[in-house]
Amino acid sequence: MTSERTPLIVQVPVAERRPRYPHAVLRRFCTVALASILIWFFIAVAVSMAYFPAGGSQRDPGDDWTWPGHPKRKLSYEQLQRILLEVPSSQRAEEWSRYYTAGPHLAGKNYSQAVWTKNKWEEFGVTSEIVSYDTYLNYPVDHRLALLEKEKNADGASVWKVSYEAALTEDVLAEDPSTSLPDRVPTFHGYSASGNVTGPVVYVNYGSYQDFEDLIRANVTLKGKVAIARYGGIFRGLKVKRAQELGMLGVILYSDPGDDGENTEEKGKEPYPNGPARHPSSVQRGSTQFLSFVQGDPTTPGYPSKPGVPRLPVDDAIPSIPSIPISYQDALPILKALNGHGPKADDLNQYWTRNVGLRYKGVHYNIGPTPDNVVVNLYNEQEYVITPLWNVIGVINGTISDEVVVVGNHRDAWVAGGSGDPNSGSAVLNEAIRSLGEALRQGWKPLRTIVFASWDGEEYGLVGSTEWVEEYLPWLSEATVAYVNTDISVEGTHFAARAAPLLDDVIYTAASVVPSPNQTVLGQTVYDLWDKSIKTMGSGSDFAAFQDLAGIPSLDVGFDARNGDPVYHYHSNYDSFHWMEKFGDPGFVYHRAMAQLLGVITARLADLPVIPFRAGDYARALGRYVKKVEDKLDEALSPSAELTAASLLDDDAYFELRGSTRNLSTVLTSSSMSRTPDSEAESFRISLERLYKALHKLDKHATKLDRHADKLREEVGRHVPWWKWPARLKLWLDIRKVNTKYKYLERSFLYEKGLDGRPWFKHVVFAPGLWTGYAGAVFPGLVESIDARNWKNAERWVGIIESRIENAARRL
Ligand SMILES: *[C@@H]1O[C@H](CO)[C@@H](O)[C@H](O)[C@H]1NC(C)=O
Ligand SMILES: *[C@@H]1O[C@H](CO)[C@@H](O)[C@H](O)[C@H]1NC(C)=O
Ligand SMILES: *[C@@H]1O[C@H](CO)[C@@H](O)[C@H](O)[C@H]1NC(C)=O
Ligand SMILES: *[C@@H]1O[C@H](CO)[C@@H](O)[C@H](O)[C@H]1NC(C)=O
Ligand SMILES: *[C@@H]1O[C@H](CO)[C@@H](O)[C@H](O)[C@H]1NC(C)=O
Ligand SMILES: *[C@@H]1O[C@H](CO)[C@@H](O)[C@H](O)[C@H]1NC(C)=O
Repeated sequence: MTSERTPLIVQVPVAERRPRYPHAVLRRFCTVALASILIWFFIAVAVSMAYFPAGGSQRDPGDDWTWPGHPKRKLSYEQLQRILLEVPSSQRAEEWSRYYTAGPHLAGKNYSQAVWTKNKWEEFGVTSEIVSYDTYLNYPVDHRLALLEKEKNADGASVWKVSYEAALTEDVLAEDPSTSLPDRVPTFHGYSASGNVTGPVVYVNYGSYQDFEDLIRANVTLKGKVAIARYGGIFRGLKVKRAQELGMLGVILYSDPGDDGENTEEKGKEPYPNGPARHPSSVQRGSTQFLSFVQGDPTTPGYPSKPGVPRLPVDDAIPSIPSIPISYQDALPILKALNGHGPKADDLNQYWTRNVGLRYKGVHYNIGPTPDNVVVNLYNEQEYVITPLWNVIGVINGTISDEVVVVGNHRDAWVAGGSGDPNSGSAVLNEAIRSLGEALRQGWKPLRTIVFASWDGEEYGLVGSTEWVEEYLPWLSEATVAYVNTDISVEGTHFAARAAPLLDDVIYTAASVVPSPNQTVLGQTVYDLWDKSIKTMGSGSDFAAFQDLAGIPSLDVGFDARNGDPVYHYHSNYDSFHWMEKFGDPGFVYHRAMAQLLGVITARLADLPVIPFRAGDYARALGRYVKKVEDKLDEALSPSAELTAASLLDDDAYFELRGSTRNLSTVLTSSSMSRTPDSEAESFRISLERLYKALHKLDKHATKLDRHADKLREEVGRHVPWWKWPARLKLWLDIRKVNTKYKYLERSFLYEKGLDGRPWFKHVVFAPGLWTGYAGAVFPGLVESIDARNWKNAERWVGIIESRIENAARRL
């Protein structure tokens, strides 16, 4: 509001001072006109008083500003934020954690936790309901893993002798009651295939795409063998997928302590429960769904698993060969049986000796295969059922019903405990909701509608959230502003975030008002102690359906275990309340910080009049991603560019490279051989210019929109007297217009036909890496075409991406 001009209506009485006209008709006309003007004047005053309640001058500037139909503000944004920072309590978070981790809650197996959660949320003041889906899941029946050796008996006949029978269970520890629960969950893989296979073993490193390529090049026989792979980096289902494609019989996955950093027994640290190192018997359960190809219930891709819906065959979505997860204690005899057989890891390349952690136990890391008289028997029996899952959905209605913020965490766990994954998030979400409930009690009503979700079935393949998004897709596309996720809220002390670029600023701002639980200098915030990096969206948690299918900007936050933090026993019985209390988060102070952060992020998104997005951040991020594609092209054209030190030291770089499908042999053999494709690649490079040009336009429009939004934010903060209601009305309309542009920006990047070979994924900028799964790939269609050296398809993707960017620029 810059003009000091008096509104027109007030000038009207001036007309009275004009000389009277003798003509009665004219006089009557004037009287009627004046009367109706006065009537309209009073109506306008009444309306503006109702819509824009007047504020006293003693209040903060801007507190009198409100939305039409919104009740008079009882709390300023600052007051709301104060509540969200003050209410969350470590004691309460600990109490919720204790509840969730008291008994098993595998997907579809614990209805009482859904009811309990619903009741708690209602107690906090949030209307909630349980929404269920009938989904296809497996539960473990039986398993066996044994090492067999053929020996001659006394008569000279050959017999198979069992040389090692794997325990396949985790040790019971007196200190940790979760480990001795009678109904604890066995070790198994979600969506794994039943089977009973016997064969020689091959060590396949992390089981990444490039690991298998290295083995093929080294002439190691894979067909008819059983793979033993270490966990890490790549989503486990994709390790099984590649082994299956190459004709292997089955897959054993183990946790190598070499990936545990400084806290290992080899480096003199005591294992849990006495120290921070990994317990040797800990096993990582988990899903082996082919997550980067399709997610959710594999029998209902693209539509909700309501009772009675048609179901499709699952062949392309889940494994057909059996797999089994084991501890490193159980892996030792199998790895040692490989000693002396086949090439050594050192003989392949440097990617094979990264973090090898069992040399000190006598493992030589030979590749194998073991000779035909040394085999493993892998037996896995799963029962497949169609069974209900229970999402809990809570709603706080806002004034603007077509602007919605969704906040979620999953509740199901692989183990009875799950104090980190996911119930640190569940405890944190409860505390955030309790705090928002306190604000409601003090008379607050959010501008936008907030929906809370406690998802079931995340662990099997993001099932509960995916089915829900598939069911409500039209409404979500129309109304949703953002999705806020936390899965493992606390497993360590290092704050980590991934997000769509539109949301970067919300994370930075919120993190800088939340006090760090570990202040070396008084007043340090989470932001101060953070490396400030925000990763791109991949998969592996419930944001994927929102981001990749619905095009809703999403974020995911939590405190990671890194650099000296005690080893987090992911998906193991030792992810227990006792571990959390003693090692993960003594005092539950990081839980409290996350609850504060989640509350503030939610409040900013739901209650600031102008949605706190930065379109410019999106445009600039896209520029960086195109640069990344160019770098990739350079690598594809120059031999040995991939053998960099960075890709060995940095986890993300390592797994991004190893998970790529690039045909390195083409690059490494002879540059003359790749002459012809090179020239094609060179001409392709020129077409990337088109993307820069489109981005330039987007950046211009985005920057303009952000500047306009900043101006509106300023205007909201200024006191405007009620009688300047036309200015108020204009401001309201302007904000509504800007918010609508922000709301739909991410949607511009959806491509109806989806990605090549995985049409469920609709976003042209973000998708899980095809062969990494967790890590986010940028411009997946384009990058995969470059990896495949399919320049024609790469050109096609440049066209698709260009049209999305132009579309986005036009909409701004
Ligand atoms: C469900 O969870 C509660 C709370 O953690 C636990 O006490 C109970 O034993 C679980 N129920 C079942 C059927 O596993
Ligand atoms: C698995 O197969 C082996 C033979 O290959 C057989 O001896 C064993 O009994 C089978 N196990 C089960 C549980 O069927
Ligand atoms: C693999 O086998 C091929 C053909 O038999 C041979 O030319 C090549 O040298 C072998 N490679 C290795 C690493 O042994
Ligand atoms: C929220 O609004 C919807 C639609 O107007 C209504 O059906 C629902 O009952 C409201 N919920 C609450 C908790 O007020
Ligand atoms: C707290 O921070 C200091 C210095 O940044 C670090 O050395 C220490 O390990 C941290 N402690 C916890 C419990 O996070
Ligand atoms: C990789 O390139 C080599 C040489 O051009 C070719 O023989 C081989 O089939 C390619 N492999 C794949 C998986 O495309």
